[in-house]
Amino acid sequence: MKGAVKHNSRPSCSRPADQHSASQAPRAQQHQLLSRKKFSFEKSVVPGAISTASLSERVQQVSVTPPASLREVDSGKILGFGADLAEDHPGFRDGAYKRRRMDIATLARSHEVGEPIPELDYLPEEIATWGTVLRETSQLYPTHACQEFLHTFPLFDFREDRVPQLEAMSSILRQCTGWQIRPVAGLLHPRDFLNGLAFKTFHSTQYVRHHSRPMYTPEPDVCHELLGHVPMLADPRYCEMVHKIGLASLHADNKQIWHLTKIYWYTVEFGLIREHGEIRAFGAGVLSSYGELENMRSEKPQILGFDPFAVLPKMDYKSGYQKLYYILDSFDDAATKLGAYCDKLQQA
Ligand SMILES: [Fe+2]
Repeated sequence: MKGAVKHNSRPSCSRPADQHSASQAPRAQQHQLLSRKKFSFEKSVVPGAISTASLSERVQQVSVTPPASLREVDSGKILGFGADLAEDHPGFRDGAYKRRRMDIATLARSHEVGEPIPELDYLPEEIATWGTVLRETSQLYPTHACQEFLHTFPLFDFREDRVPQLEAMSSILRQCTGWQIRPVAGLLHPRDFLNGLAFKTFHSTQYVRHHSRPMYTPEPDVCHELLGHVPMLADPRYCEMVHKIGLASLHADNKQIWHLTKIYWYTVEFGLIREHGEIRAFGAGVLSSYGELENMRSEKPQILGFDPFAVLPKMDYKSGYQKLYYILDSFDDAATKLGAYCDKLQQA
């Protein structure tokens, strides 16, 4: 691993972005098979270690001083997955993997807002893991991913033999939507993570899941971030919706943060969208998991319309693929609804 910083060339996003804003239609591409395991956040997800019971006791109107800038958003409160991996983590018995993760996490902790994200020299097994995830999941994108994803995906020039650098990805996003990536050492505290969205900043891990199980990770890793989140963050309408969630979090009390976390979970992580009578995925937890992509199209899950004002069920991330998804009619519609919810929070 090197701390050397390079400035990457900047592929243009103007053509696809312009096409998108001109309401042009879909695209299509690839195909095929394989792999299983779902992406799940195991212990903490975004909601962290807050149980529903303890939450209700703590739900008083807390006096929240919202961050005035990204520099005031704490990127250091990491929930789990630090030096001590859980016993069921694939890397639990791999000392070299743990040291590698800690080196990368240390680099993320040292990052200053406004500075380029340090590049990593990924190891051969990390590149192979990334290549496997890219190869397998991308087989289903043409038939399962939403048009916005298919539209922006080629901008990033993903290749199986090269793990993309966060700085290069962030540079493309800045040109397309004004969003950026900030490296983070692990699963961030939900309030801080959601606050980052208000400043058009996505906190991203930089380490790679354990090579022994390339199609499974119990936590977000760079494969999930790059394949699930990054292409969607190049779409302006999607970003508008996500920005609403971030803005709503700035003045939210703990109970509202909990609800916003569920909104985030059922949209940004596991959201579906209706396209020409078909169900397509835009949630990162679906787009970065071959098994989840298959599951969403099966007869198994329940699919409901999304309403940010509705009581949302407990997030389920420990019992296999999602049993419930929420579906949007459009990102514009979702942004409008989330905007109304945001207004309601600010008036409370
Ligand atoms: Fe995610």
